Amino acid sequence: MSAWPHILIPYFKFIHIAALAIWAAGLFALPLMLTRHDPTNAQADYTRLRQASHYSYTLLVTPMAVLAIISGTVLIFLREVFVTWMFAKLVFVALMVVFHAWVGHVLVSVAETEGEHTPPSPTFPVLILLGIVLCVLALVLAKPDLGAIPMPEWLVEPRELQLPFDVPRR
Ligand code: HEM
Repeated sequence: MSAWPHILIPYFKFIHIAALAIWAAGLFALPLMLTRHDPTNAQADYTRLRQASHYSYTLLVTPMAVLAIISGTVLIFLREVFVTWMFAKLVFVALMVVFHAWVGHVLVSVAETEGEHTPPSPTFPVLILLGIVLCVLALVLAKPDLGAIPMPEWLVEPRELQLPFDVPRR
């Protein structure tokens, strides 16, 4: 790769780390915020909580998740990190995305379920999220050499198979 795209690396890293910090903070905060929801709340309290959680999720936490993923994807190519720890990290990032979707599901349930809906206790979900985030951070900061992990041959050897479409040859 020519030199100039490397100048962009610190900027993308800054965006990446800022976005993922807000994303992860939101994923911890939202289940805790939702525990303040109680069917016996007064209408004004319900509205305040509902607006705070809805706008945090849609206007802040979700856009930051998208930004963290886009900037991370750009960094893969700028840093050329096509290595095993990176792909292991992406597995845990995928679990964060599943957690993100679960938080969205709980938000909608609280808002739109007819009758009473009590949000789940946040203790277990928050502990699971903590485990996932720590795994991501351990992988990206320690960059362990996972090359020794045995992989099935079909994952590491070219298969010499024809793709169902034409690709340009270098
Ligand atoms: C699809 C999502 C993501 C992708 C594609 C991605 C990709 C990357 C890449 C390529 C780097 C540069 C690595 C290097 O310079 O060696 C990086 C840095 C980093 N990522 Fe991610 N990342 C993603 C999500 C996350 C998440 C969710 C976290 C934390 C919870 C995270 C934490 C970090 C940290 C702390 C760094 C800085 C590491 C360093 O400079 O040594 N990333 N990421």
